[in-house]
Amino acid sequence: MKIFLDTANLQDIKNWHQTGLIDGVTTNPTHLSKEGGDPKELVKQICEVMKDGDISVEITEIEPEKVYAQAKEIAKIADNVVVKIPCHKDYYEIIKKLAQENIPLNITLIFTPLQGLFMCKLGVKYISPFIGRLNDIEQDGIELVNNLRIIIDANKFTKTEIIAASIRDASVFQDALMYGANIATVPVNVLEEATKHTLTDSGMKKFLDDWKKLGIKQFP
Ligand code: E4P
Repeated sequence: MKIFLDTANLQDIKNWHQTGLIDGVTTNPTHLSKEGGDPKELVKQICEVMKDGDISVEITEIEPEKVYAQAKEIAKIADNVVVKIPCHKDYYEIIKKLAQENIPLNITLIFTPLQGLFMCKLGVKYISPFIGRLNDIEQDGIELVNNLRIIIDANKFTKTEIIAASIRDASVFQDALMYGANIATVPVNVLEEATKHTLTDSGMKKFLDDWKKLGIKQFP
C-alpha cells in the first residue's frame, strides 16, 4: 500500500518527502497552473526531490496524434515520470501503443468499472478512479474502487495498480485503501488531517502534566 501526494507544490513535496511517508506524486494541469512559472522546470525539480517515486504528469494536448507525441516528450523529462492520459475513447489506440512501448501510464478520470477494465486490457501501469467527483454527483466512489479491485483480481491483471484519486477527507482516504486501492493520492490537507487525533493530543498533555508532578529536572 502506497501514498502519493496530490499536488505540484515543491515545498509541500519536500516537507512530506522528509517524513518518509510519501511514495510518489500526482500532478495535473490544475495543480501545475496553480504553481505558475515554467511547468517543465517544476516537474524536473519534483522528480529530483522524489527520485525514488513515480511522478504523474498529465498531457495537455487534445488531438490523439499530438497527445501521443506529447506523451513521449513528457516521458523524457525524467526516469520516474509517469504520463497521465484521460480515459477517453479517442485515446485508446495511442494508450495501447504507448503501453506497448513501455511508457509508464496513469489513466485518469476513470468513473466506471468498465473504463478501468478496458485500461487493464491495454496493459497500463495505473488507473485512477476519481472518488470525490463521483461522490459529488451522489454516486459511490468507494464502491467503484472496490469493483475495480474485484475485476483486477478476478482477471489476474498483474500489470495494473489502482490509484484512488480525488480524495477530499481522511475517512475516504482510509476507506480507499481498505476497499482495495494499491495507492491513495491525497492532497496535503487530507494527509495532515489523517495524522491527527484529539485523544493523541490530550493523551500527550496528560502524560506530561503527570510527569511534571515528579519535579525531576533531568531524565534519564
Ligand atoms: C489526481 O490524480 C487527480 O488529478 C486529483 O486527485 C483530482 O482531484 P479533484 O477531483 O479534487 O480535483
